[in-house]
Amino acid sequence: MFNPFSLAGKTILVTGASSGIGRQCAIDCSRMGARVVLIGRSEERLAETFHEMIGCGHMITAIDLTDFDRIGGCVTDIISQCGPIHGVLHCAGISAILSLKQMDILHLDHFFRNNVYSAIELTREVCKVHHIAKEGASIVFFSSVMGCVGESGKSLYGMTKGALIAGSRSLACEYAKRKVRFNVISPGAVETPINARQPYMADPELRQLLEEKHLLGLGRTIDISYACIYLLSDASRWITGQNLIVDGGYTAR
Ligand SMILES: NC(=O)c1ccc[n+]([C@@H]2O[C@H](COP(=O)([O-])OP(=O)(O)OC[C@H]3O[C@@H](n4cnc5c(N)ncnc54)[C@H](OP(=O)(O)O)[C@@H]3O)[C@@H](O)[C@H]2O)c1
Repeated sequence: MFNPFSLAGKTILVTGASSGIGRQCAIDCSRMGARVVLIGRSEERLAETFHEMIGCGHMITAIDLTDFDRIGGCVTDIISQCGPIHGVLHCAGISAILSLKQMDILHLDHFFRNNVYSAIELTREVCKVHHIAKEGASIVFFSSVMGCVGESGKSLYGMTKGALIAGSRSLACEYAKRKVRFNVISPGAVETPINARQPYMADPELRQLLEEKHLLGLGRTIDISYACIYLLSDASRWITGQNLIVDGGYTAR
Protein backbone atom coordinates (compact mmCIF):
# COMPACT_ATOMS: atom_id res chain seq x y z
CA MET A 1 0.00 0.00 0.00
CA PHE A 2 1.28 3.48 -0.86
CA ASN A 3 2.38 5.14 2.39
CA PRO A 4 4.86 8.03 2.16
CA PHE A 5 4.92 8.24 5.96
CA SER A 6 6.12 4.68 6.49
CA LEU A 7 9.13 4.19 8.75
CA ALA A 8 9.69 0.58 7.66
CA GLY A 9 13.37 -0.31 7.47
CA LYS A 10 14.42 2.66 9.58
CA THR A 11 16.19 2.59 12.95
CA ILE A 12 14.95 5.45 15.11
CA LEU A 13 16.31 6.58 18.50
CA VAL A 14 13.66 8.03 20.81
CA THR A 15 14.90 9.71 23.99
CA GLY A 16 12.44 10.33 26.81
CA ALA A 17 10.73 7.09 25.76
CA SER A 18 9.89 6.19 29.36
CA SER A 19 7.12 8.78 29.68
CA GLY A 20 4.62 11.13 28.08
CA ILE A 21 5.24 12.30 24.52
CA GLY A 22 8.40 10.23 24.03
CA ARG A 23 6.58 7.05 25.05
CA GLN A 24 3.80 7.78 22.54
CA CYS A 25 6.36 8.57 19.82
CA ALA A 26 8.19 5.29 20.44
CA ILE A 27 4.96 3.27 20.24
CA ASP A 28 3.78 5.08 17.11
CA CYS A 29 7.17 4.75 15.37
CA SER A 30 6.91 0.98 15.95
CA ARG A 31 3.39 1.04 14.48
CA MET A 32 4.82 2.77 11.39
CA GLY A 33 7.32 -0.04 10.96
CA ALA A 34 10.49 1.36 12.54
CA ARG A 35 12.94 -0.48 14.73
CA VAL A 36 13.06 1.75 17.81
CA VAL A 37 15.77 2.31 20.41
CA LEU A 38 14.11 3.47 23.63
CA ILE A 39 16.26 5.85 25.65
CA GLY A 40 15.54 7.27 29.11
CA ARG A 41 16.66 7.04 32.72
CA SER A 42 14.15 4.58 34.15
CA GLU A 43 14.75 1.07 32.82
CA GLU A 44 11.48 -0.08 34.42
CA ARG A 45 9.37 2.54 32.64
CA LEU A 46 11.25 2.02 29.36
CA ALA A 47 10.25 -1.65 29.66
CA GLU A 48 6.60 -0.60 30.09
CA THR A 49 6.85 1.32 26.80
CA PHE A 50 8.60 -1.64 25.17
CA HIS A 51 5.66 -3.92 26.02
CA GLU A 52 3.24 -1.59 24.22
CA MET A 53 5.22 -1.66 20.97
CA ILE A 54 4.63 -3.80 17.93
CA GLY A 55 7.20 -5.40 15.62
CA CYS A 56 10.59 -6.71 16.63
CA GLY A 57 14.21 -5.70 17.04
CA HIS A 58 13.50 -2.84 19.45
CA MET A 59 16.09 -2.09 22.10
CA ILE A 60 16.21 -0.41 25.51
CA THR A 61 19.09 1.85 26.53
CA ALA A 62 18.81 3.23 30.06
CA ILE A 63 21.04 6.26 30.46
CA ASP A 64 21.00 9.67 32.08
CA LEU A 65 21.79 11.87 29.08
CA THR A 66 23.58 14.35 31.32
CA ASP A 67 26.12 11.62 31.96
CA PHE A 68 27.94 12.88 28.87
CA ASP A 69 30.90 10.49 29.11
CA ARG A 70 28.56 7.51 28.65
CA ILE A 71 26.77 8.74 25.51
CA GLY A 72 29.50 7.68 23.06
CA GLY A 73 29.60 4.12 24.38
CA CYS A 74 25.81 3.83 24.30
CA VAL A 75 25.60 5.00 20.68
CA THR A 76 28.36 2.55 19.69
CA ASP A 77 26.43 -0.31 21.37
CA ILE A 78 23.24 0.73 19.58
CA ILE A 79 24.96 0.75 16.18
CA SER A 80 26.57 -2.62 16.78
CA GLN A 81 23.17 -4.13 17.59
CA CYS A 82 20.84 -2.19 15.28
CA GLY A 83 23.06 -0.85 12.50
CA PRO A 84 23.23 2.76 11.26
CA ILE A 85 20.68 5.31 12.42
CA HIS A 86 17.95 6.86 10.24
CA GLY A 87 16.39 9.17 12.80
CA VAL A 88 16.44 10.63 16.28
CA LEU A 89 13.55 12.08 18.28
CA HIS A 90 15.16 13.84 21.19
CA CYS A 91 12.11 14.17 23.47
CA ALA A 92 13.93 13.97 26.81
CA GLY A 93 13.64 17.22 28.69
CA ILE A 94 12.76 18.89 31.94
CA SER A 95 10.52 21.83 32.82
CA ALA A 96 9.73 24.05 35.80
CA ILE A 97 8.24 27.42 36.63
CA LEU A 98 10.95 29.68 38.06
CA SER A 99 10.95 33.44 38.47
CA LEU A 100 14.12 35.41 37.83
CA LYS A 101 14.41 35.96 41.60
CA GLN A 102 14.28 32.23 42.35
CA MET A 103 16.75 31.29 39.65
CA ASP A 104 20.39 30.71 40.52
CA ILE A 105 23.42 29.47 38.63
CA LEU A 106 22.70 25.86 39.64
CA HIS A 107 19.26 26.04 38.01
CA LEU A 108 20.82 27.49 34.86
CA ASP A 109 23.40 24.75 34.72
CA HIS A 110 20.85 21.99 35.45
CA PHE A 111 18.43 23.15 32.76
CA PHE A 112 21.04 23.68 30.09
CA ARG A 113 22.66 20.31 30.81
CA ASN A 114 19.32 18.49 30.56
CA ASN A 115 17.68 20.38 27.70
CA VAL A 116 20.55 21.60 25.51
CA TYR A 117 23.92 19.96 26.18
CA SER A 118 22.36 16.48 26.10
CA ALA A 119 20.91 17.22 22.63
CA ILE A 120 24.28 18.33 21.30
CA GLU A 121 26.30 15.52 22.87
CA LEU A 122 23.88 12.87 21.57
CA THR A 123 23.74 14.46 18.11
CA ARG A 124 27.52 14.66 17.83
CA GLU A 125 27.82 10.93 18.47
CA VAL A 126 24.95 10.00 16.16
CA CYS A 127 26.32 12.15 13.31
CA LYS A 128 29.73 10.47 13.27
CA VAL A 129 30.70 8.84 9.97
CA HIS A 130 29.33 5.26 9.79
CA HIS A 131 26.78 5.98 12.53
CA ILE A 132 24.33 7.63 10.13
CA ALA A 133 22.53 5.54 7.50
CA LYS A 134 23.92 6.02 3.97
CA GLU A 135 20.47 7.26 2.80
CA GLY A 136 20.71 10.08 5.38
CA ALA A 137 18.85 10.79 8.59
CA SER A 138 16.30 13.04 10.25
CA ILE A 139 17.09 14.54 13.65
CA VAL A 140 14.21 16.14 15.56
CA PHE A 141 14.76 18.25 18.67
CA PHE A 142 11.94 18.94 21.12
CA SER A 143 11.41 22.61 21.82
CA SER A 144 8.17 24.17 23.06
CA VAL A 145 5.98 27.15 22.26
CA MET A 146 7.98 28.69 25.13
CA GLY A 147 10.95 28.77 22.73
CA CYS A 148 9.05 31.38 20.67
CA VAL A 149 6.66 33.18 23.05
CA GLY A 150 6.73 33.99 26.76
CA GLU A 151 4.84 33.19 29.96
CA SER A 152 5.69 34.39 33.44
CA GLY A 153 8.08 31.95 35.13
CA LYS A 154 9.13 30.25 31.92
CA SER A 155 12.26 32.28 31.06
CA LEU A 156 14.82 29.58 31.88
CA TYR A 157 12.83 26.78 30.24
CA GLY A 158 12.19 29.08 27.26
CA MET A 159 15.89 29.95 26.93
CA THR A 160 16.83 26.28 26.69
CA LYS A 161 14.06 25.56 24.20
CA GLY A 162 14.92 28.64 22.10
CA ALA A 163 18.54 27.45 21.99
CA LEU A 164 17.43 24.23 20.29
CA ILE A 165 15.50 26.15 17.63
CA ALA A 166 18.49 28.40 16.92
CA GLY A 167 21.02 25.56 16.97
CA SER A 168 19.04 23.30 14.68
CA ARG A 169 19.09 25.85 11.84
CA SER A 170 22.89 25.97 11.70
CA LEU A 171 23.14 22.21 12.16
CA ALA A 172 20.81 21.87 9.17
CA CYS A 173 23.30 23.96 7.13
CA GLU A 174 26.29 22.00 8.43
CA TYR A 175 24.86 18.55 7.71
CA ALA A 176 22.77 18.98 4.55
CA LYS A 177 25.64 17.66 2.38
CA ARG A 178 25.53 14.43 4.39
CA LYS A 179 21.73 14.22 3.91
CA VAL A 180 21.10 14.74 7.61
CA ARG A 181 18.06 16.93 8.23
CA PHE A 182 17.54 18.88 11.47
CA ASN A 183 14.10 20.06 12.52
CA VAL A 184 12.36 21.03 15.73
CA ILE A 185 8.90 20.29 17.10
CA SER A 186 7.41 22.94 19.37
CA PRO A 187 4.38 21.59 21.24
CA GLY A 188 1.79 23.61 23.09
CA ALA A 189 0.37 22.16 26.32
CA VAL A 190 -0.09 18.39 26.34
CA GLU A 191 -0.98 16.72 29.62
CA THR A 192 1.91 14.44 30.64
CA PRO A 193 3.88 13.80 33.86
CA ILE A 194 6.08 16.85 33.09
CA ASN A 195 3.23 19.24 33.88
CA ALA A 196 0.58 17.17 35.68
CA ARG A 197 1.39 18.77 39.04
CA GLN A 198 1.93 22.30 37.76
CA PRO A 199 -0.77 24.74 38.95
CA TYR A 200 -1.82 25.53 35.37
CA MET A 201 -2.86 21.87 34.93
CA ALA A 202 -3.83 20.87 38.47
CA ASP A 203 -5.94 23.93 39.41
CA PRO A 204 -9.29 23.74 37.54
CA GLU A 205 -9.56 27.51 37.03
CA LEU A 206 -6.02 27.90 35.72
CA ARG A 207 -6.46 24.85 33.55
CA GLN A 208 -9.58 26.37 32.02
CA LEU A 209 -7.60 29.53 31.22
CA LEU A 210 -4.85 27.46 29.62
CA GLU A 211 -7.37 25.50 27.58
CA GLU A 212 -8.88 28.72 26.31
CA LYS A 213 -5.46 29.92 25.13
CA HIS A 214 -5.28 26.83 22.90
CA LEU A 215 -7.89 27.42 20.19
CA LEU A 216 -8.34 23.66 19.70
CA GLY A 217 -8.05 22.77 23.40
CA LEU A 218 -5.14 20.99 25.07
CA GLY A 219 -3.13 18.54 23.00
CA ARG A 220 -2.86 14.78 23.22
CA THR A 221 0.41 12.92 22.90
CA ILE A 222 -0.64 11.55 19.50
CA ASP A 223 -0.98 15.10 18.17
CA ILE A 224 2.76 15.41 18.66
CA SER A 225 3.80 11.88 17.70
CA TYR A 226 2.00 12.08 14.34
CA ALA A 227 3.89 15.30 13.51
CA CYS A 228 7.14 13.57 14.50
CA ILE A 229 6.37 10.64 12.21
CA TYR A 230 6.05 13.10 9.33
CA LEU A 231 9.44 14.68 10.13
CA LEU A 232 11.11 11.28 10.42
CA SER A 233 9.59 9.91 7.22
CA ASP A 234 10.74 10.39 3.64
CA ALA A 235 7.60 12.50 3.10
CA SER A 236 9.51 15.40 4.70
CA ARG A 237 12.74 14.81 2.72
CA TRP A 238 12.82 18.46 1.53
CA ILE A 239 12.31 19.99 4.98
CA THR A 240 15.26 20.98 7.12
CA GLY A 241 16.11 23.76 9.57
CA GLN A 242 12.43 24.29 10.43
CA ASN A 243 10.48 24.67 13.64
CA LEU A 244 7.12 22.91 13.40
CA ILE A 245 4.74 24.44 15.96
CA VAL A 246 2.06 21.95 17.03
CA ASP A 247 0.04 23.89 19.55
CA GLY A 248 -3.70 23.80 18.80
CA GLY A 249 -3.54 27.48 17.87
CA TYR A 250 -1.82 28.76 21.03
CA THR A 251 0.53 31.02 19.05
CA ALA A 252 -2.04 31.94 16.37
CA ARG A 253 -3.21 35.05 18.23
N1 LIG B 1 3.95 18.10 27.79
C1 LIG B 1 3.94 19.35 27.31
O1 LIG B 1 2.96 20.12 27.48
C2 LIG B 1 5.11 19.85 26.54
C3 LIG B 1 4.98 21.09 25.90
C4 LIG B 1 6.05 21.59 25.17
C5 LIG B 1 7.22 20.86 25.08
N2 LIG B 1 7.33 19.67 25.72
C6 LIG B 1 8.60 18.96 25.60
O2 LIG B 1 8.35 17.64 25.16
C7 LIG B 1 9.36 16.77 25.68
C8 LIG B 1 8.69 15.57 26.33
O3 LIG B 1 7.92 16.04 27.43
P1 LIG B 1 6.84 15.17 28.20
O4 LIG B 1 5.68 16.04 28.40
O5 LIG B 1 6.67 13.87 27.52
O6 LIG B 1 7.58 14.99 29.61
P2 LIG B 1 7.71 13.73 30.60
O7 LIG B 1 6.49 12.89 30.54
O8 LIG B 1 8.12 14.30 31.91
O9 LIG B 1 8.91 12.92 29.98
C9 LIG B 1 10.21 13.43 30.03
C10 LIG B 1 11.13 12.34 29.55
O10 LIG B 1 12.45 12.86 29.51
C11 LIG B 1 13.32 11.92 30.09
N3 LIG B 1 14.49 12.61 30.64
C12 LIG B 1 14.51 13.79 31.31
N4 LIG B 1 15.76 14.09 31.64
C13 LIG B 1 16.54 13.09 31.18
C14 LIG B 1 17.93 12.81 31.21
N5 LIG B 1 18.79 13.63 31.83
N6 LIG B 1 18.37 11.68 30.63
C15 LIG B 1 17.52 10.83 30.03
N7 LIG B 1 16.21 11.03 29.95
C16 LIG B 1 15.73 12.14 30.53
C17 LIG B 1 12.49 11.25 31.17
O11 LIG B 1 13.11 10.03 31.50
P3 LIG B 1 12.83 9.26 32.92
O12 LIG B 1 11.32 9.23 33.05
O13 LIG B 1 13.37 7.91 32.66
O14 LIG B 1 13.48 10.04 33.96
C18 LIG B 1 11.17 11.12 30.46
O15 LIG B 1 11.15 9.98 29.65
C19 LIG B 1 10.20 17.61 26.63
O16 LIG B 1 11.38 18.00 25.97
C20 LIG B 1 9.33 18.82 26.92
O17 LIG B 1 10.08 19.96 27.24
C21 LIG B 1 6.30 19.14 26.45
